[in-house]
Amino acid sequence: MHAATSEQGEKVQTEMNLVAAESPVPRHVAIIMDGNGRWAAQRGLPRLAGHQHGTDNIRRITTAAAELGVKYLTLWAFSTDNWRRPKHEIDGILRILAEVIERETDELNRQGAQLRHIGSLDGLEPELRAAVLAAIDRTRHNDRLILTLAFNYSGRQELIAAVRSIIASGTSAAAVDEEVIATHLFTRNLPDPDLIVRTSGEYRISNFLLWQSAYSEFYFTPTLWPDFGPDELCEAVREFGRRDRRFGGVHGDPSAAPLVNR
Ligand code: IPE
Ligand code: IPE
Ligand code: MG
Repeated sequence: MHAATSEQGEKVQTEMNLVAAESPVPRHVAIIMDGNGRWAAQRGLPRLAGHQHGTDNIRRITTAAAELGVKYLTLWAFSTDNWRRPKHEIDGILRILAEVIERETDELNRQGAQLRHIGSLDGLEPELRAAVLAAIDRTRHNDRLILTLAFNYSGRQELIAAVRSIIASGTSAAAVDEEVIATHLFTRNLPDPDLIVRTSGEYRISNFLLWQSAYSEFYFTPTLWPDFGPDELCEAVREFGRRDRRFGGVHGDPSAAPLVNR
């Protein structure tokens, strides 16, 4: 490793130790990994080069999140609305994703990360589906970090699936409450995200965790996803530590705690 890079790495490491010691670390961080296309365009590269670099960044951020003490990390890689893109780009994204899953499962396992998936695996290439399911199965006993890949996911599609599943279960209308809905979502085994990060300077949620983000804190940054490094994750966590979460209660009230699945 180049001396300057190693020095920089040590600085970030010290910063991470400080942040982990000083700030309330969000239990669940969810990231809208946006800006791959613009990252590539700025360099005169094809969009797929941006997706490649963006996907390579997943390892960096996963490692940093685990070191910070984040317990749940959810990364949004592909929206059901992204099927609107040109076929060439979609095929490339799916290929890059299949490659990264194959390549990174050993490392995830070594780090004690458990891979999960939210979204739909239906309609995907059988190889990609099999790669995702195999990685989930191989890492199922790990518990240092729960890494959830939101892939072929959107919040509205998830709500439609939940409503169908509630109806199919025969639940009466009167019995439907927050808990029933939460337990029919893809996220049934995840706490709601404490912090949602969106890169690339867009100030919107674009159909991400619509139900689960009711009381999430948001961190928006102009940084494009391939450039979003551990230093900025630390900054987002520090910023989270400065927020005053009230869940509808009043400032400083310790009983202003989550109601369901929060
Ligand atoms: C995010 O990067 C990745 C996906 C949505 C699949 P984009 O591809 O949306 O990049 P921009 O927003 O065009 O820069
Ligand atoms: C959101 O980004 C989806 C992912 C990052 C996976 P988009 O690029 O699809 O969102 P819009 O189109 O800018 O709202
Ligand atoms: Mg985008």
